[in-house]
Amino acid sequence: MEIPPAVRARGITKAFSEVLALEGVDLDVAGGQVHGLVGPNGAGKTTLLGLLLGLAVADNGSLEILGTPVGRTPAVPDGVAGFVDGPGLYPSLTARQNLAALASLRRHDAVSTVDVGEALEQVGLTDVADDRVRGFSLGMRQRLGLAAALLTRPRLLVLDEPANGLDPAGKRHVHRVITELAADGAAVVLSSHRMDDLAALCSEVTILATGRAVFSGPVSKLAAESGDLDYRLVTTDPEAAKRLAGETPGLRVVPGPDGRRTDAELVVHGPAPALDELVVRLVGAGVALRELGPVVPPLEAAFLSLTEQPADLSQQTGQEESR
Ligand SMILES: Nc1ncnc2c1ncn2[C@@H]1O[C@H](COP(=O)(O)OP(=O)(O)O)[C@@H](O)[C@H]1O
Ligand SMILES: [Mg+2]
Repeated sequence: MEIPPAVRARGITKAFSEVLALEGVDLDVAGGQVHGLVGPNGAGKTTLLGLLLGLAVADNGSLEILGTPVGRTPAVPDGVAGFVDGPGLYPSLTARQNLAALASLRRHDAVSTVDVGEALEQVGLTDVADDRVRGFSLGMRQRLGLAAALLTRPRLLVLDEPANGLDPAGKRHVHRVITELAADGAAVVLSSHRMDDLAALCSEVTILATGRAVFSGPVSKLAAESGDLDYRLVTTDPEAAKRLAGETPGLRVVPGPDGRRTDAELVVHGPAPALDELVVRLVGAGVALRELGPVVPPLEAAFLSLTEQPADLSQQTGQEESR
């Protein structure tokens, strides 16, 4: 028997009065996949994740979650966990008490649960398990919310901007939890307004720009869409390097990103094969290469070019999120 996908969305449209938050969005997420939803503030990420969690229903389109069609009433099947806009927690209770309260509610459902201590351990909150949540930082709240989601052994985990407020250690815990869940066959959908947050974690991404999916597919395919890039070179002979770059077909020398160019540095624009040719010419001319890399990483470049908006539209996206 074929395993149904964790998420199958077709033509999802959702409006808030005159604001069209989602417009004909398709989304496919298979079990075992970590799928990133990326887009600028106001792109529709939280709205789409809210639909997956059953917090709202779409105006149009079809949505199947874990093989079950989601109807007109906001409800999703068992096995879905996560939160948008921060987890709901009791500030006067400790981390452990918050999870114990949730676990006791869940015990009446026919779902197997993870031990509270184990969930706290997984997100790295063991040391503060008996502190009141009132004093928790944003990053600690995010991790406690993740622990709460883990209690139900989700088959679809939905996280809205989970990287917000996390320190490097917190980020490592969250990454490990997500990777392990996916390795066990669960599907994970998470969002970010930053491409670099997601690149390391996701096998596939969907890019949203003002309510439309402008890209969906493997991260590697996205990188290939970046096209010609600006590359920064540091060489032992910048004058010769500049001359050779000018002579290399397909390349042109461009001013550096913000005028901070040192004398040894050169920025060129063109396709990767032309850059390879320049490196061969540099070495042939006895000029050594000390540094070479894209000014903006390929994924970021593809993301920016796909989500760039005309200036007059940028006013309408409103709602700045905390960064
Ligand atoms: N409850 C709501 N009422 C009115 N407008 C909303 C509501 N939720 C979202 N929006 C609007 O829908 C668009 C998408 O918002 P959202 O899904 O929060 O984007 P993102 O999470 O990508 O920043 C924005 O223009 C936002 O202002
Ligand atoms: Mg959001």
